[in-house]
Amino acid sequence: MNKKAIILVVDDEHGVRQSFNMVLKDEYNVLLAGTGEEAVDIFTKNTIDLVLLDILLPDIYGIDLLKKLKEIDPNAEIIMVTAVKEIQTAVEAIKLGAYEYIIKPFKVDDVLTVINRALEKRNLLREVTFLRDEVKRYHPFEKMVGKHKKLRKIFELISTISESDGAVLIQGESGTGKELVARAIHNLSQRKDQPFVVVNCAAIPSTLMESDIFGHTKGAYTGATSTTMGKLEIASKGTVFLDDIDTLNINMQAKLLRVIQEKEFERLGSTKVIKADVRFIAASNKDIKNLISQEEFRDDLFYRLNVFPIKVPSLRERKSDIPLLLSHFLEVNAKKSGKPPKKFSNNAVKALTEYDWPGNVRELQNLVERLFTITKDSVIHFKNISISNIGKRQFTESTLKEAVNIFEKEYIEETLEFTNGSRKKTAEILGIHRNTLLAKINELGLKG
Ligand SMILES: Nc1ncnc2c1ncn2[C@@H]1O[C@H](COP(=O)(O)OP(=O)(O)OP(=O)(O)O)[C@@H](O)[C@H]1O
Ligand SMILES: [Mg+2]
Repeated sequence: MNKKAIILVVDDEHGVRQSFNMVLKDEYNVLLAGTGEEAVDIFTKNTIDLVLLDILLPDIYGIDLLKKLKEIDPNAEIIMVTAVKEIQTAVEAIKLGAYEYIIKPFKVDDVLTVINRALEKRNLLREVTFLRDEVKRYHPFEKMVGKHKKLRKIFELISTISESDGAVLIQGESGTGKELVARAIHNLSQRKDQPFVVVNCAAIPSTLMESDIFGHTKGAYTGATSTTMGKLEIASKGTVFLDDIDTLNINMQAKLLRVIQEKEFERLGSTKVIKADVRFIAASNKDIKNLISQEEFRDDLFYRLNVFPIKVPSLRERKSDIPLLLSHFLEVNAKKSGKPPKKFSNNAVKALTEYDWPGNVRELQNLVERLFTITKDSVIHFKNISISNIGKRQFTESTLKEAVNIFEKEYIEETLEFTNGSRKKTAEILGIHRNTLLAKINELGLKG
């Protein structure tokens, strides 16, 4: 339920204060002030949503008081109350940021209408500001760590895609960094100073989904007590991130398709067409093509979103990044906690590199955080990891030789790919003789 708005009435006439109070007290919390000084005092001590401000006060000129209040809280809406002969001043007040003026004597209905409109504007603004701040708070460390070829390809894609405005579909297992990729695209794009707004398709009940995305007008449905902006509107000129898009029901898929195609929409309960100036980035950890064949996902929506496809690799597919990520998250934890740095022993790194991380980077990040917190020693050993029960999942008990082979194989493979299969260049980069390279290719069963 919305909390009652707080209105401050500033007027030197007792009668006027009381009549405002009578009219407003059922719907709002009303505070009264008879002088400018009193008004400033009340205004400073409370979060006032709206002020009804008489222009002629005994101790301060209304315009000066307006300036003062706007300085203290620029978000409060101020409505000037004036006599006909003061209209010129009222107009001046509007220029200084007052929302509106009303002329005495006034009709109760008119006053209520103006107040409602002002509060509505304030609510919408507050919502936008809140969400923008929220966006900035989230993910304080946006750094994407990794050097594996597959990740470097993703970095390249991010930079190319950020220059355009087409829709993006990011697919990949849970915890691989899909949201990080989406934020990176936004942060590199021209839309970077505008909001990045997340629509969490899996977390919002389907009955609320439509209103969450499109917004609604007051009274659009039972329980819609005020006009509310949807995420599309909040994200105006920015990016909308449709997370877990595969969970969107077929009905909403059709509605979303329409917005992407026509670039416009309406709030629920309204016929006013609103332009949708947003970039869409969608993410899913399911294989959407598969869902299409099961008729759970619309193929036309898929093609609309899949203008730029990105497949984020699992951590298993880029094991050479594991040591980097381990040190990265140790560093992050040390910084965050202000404690001295810690490191993993070689054996620990080896074991963690062999582990196949079904939860991908998120799982690794969580494990490092836990180990950093519970390990007293500045070195985290293999035995510490077993204690902190990484789970029943097995480490392949491989010898050092086997582990080295795994690494060698991956490294040689990558270098070969990098040189487009040139054995000469590969041998040069690796600093070994061509014959040694050939022998390794055979020994490790590489295609070469
Ligand atoms: N390459 C990376 N470097 C550093 N941190 C990363 C990297 N990839 C992912 N992370 C971190 O791992 C966590 C999970 O990433 P993210 O939320 O982007 O995953 P996701 O693919 O959206 O997962 P899900 O499908 O479960 O929503 C985040 O805390 C993110 O910061
Ligand atoms: Mg995610």
